[in-house]
Amino acid sequence: MKKTLFALLFVSSFAAAESFINSFEYGEMLYKNPRGVGCDKCHGKYGEGMNIGSYQKNNKTIKIVAPKISKSSFNDIKNSLKFNKKRSVMPEYFLTDSEIEALIYYLKKINEGSGG
Ligand code: HEC
Repeated sequence: MKKTLFALLFVSSFAAAESFINSFEYGEMLYKNPRGVGCDKCHGKYGEGMNIGSYQKNNKTIKIVAPKISKSSFNDIKNSLKFNKKRSVMPEYFLTDSEIEALIYYLKKINEGSGG
């Protein structure tokens, strides 16, 4: 009896959490406001990548490009958030594994059917 009650409580609180915010909304929130500058500000609305600026060096224009990340894997994202060796302007983020998974889920969903 106790066990059943516990199971019921667990299921109903999970259902409540689900209706409050779904995986897509959670991923969207993290993409746009990941406790820091939104990824979308540099990598674009769909993670398609963007030219975010340029500067002059020895009379040459050097572009700063935020690469396309719409197809990045879990490890690509995790590594660049934490150990980005080529880091130029991208900030460091402290996202958990499940937050990174939610981000990837969101990027996949918004790119579905776009072929890109
Ligand atoms: C201020 C701009 C900026 C923001 C904000 C930003 N990035 Fe980046 N990101 C870059 C740039 C520029 C690079 C290229 C490497 C470098 O110069 O740091 C990069 C590289 C990456 C890469 C590696 C891609 C590759 O192919 O090498 C991934 C993955 C990535 N960013 C994901 C994210 C995610 C996820 C977020 C949000 C949590 C985010 N970035 C926020 C600018 C940004």
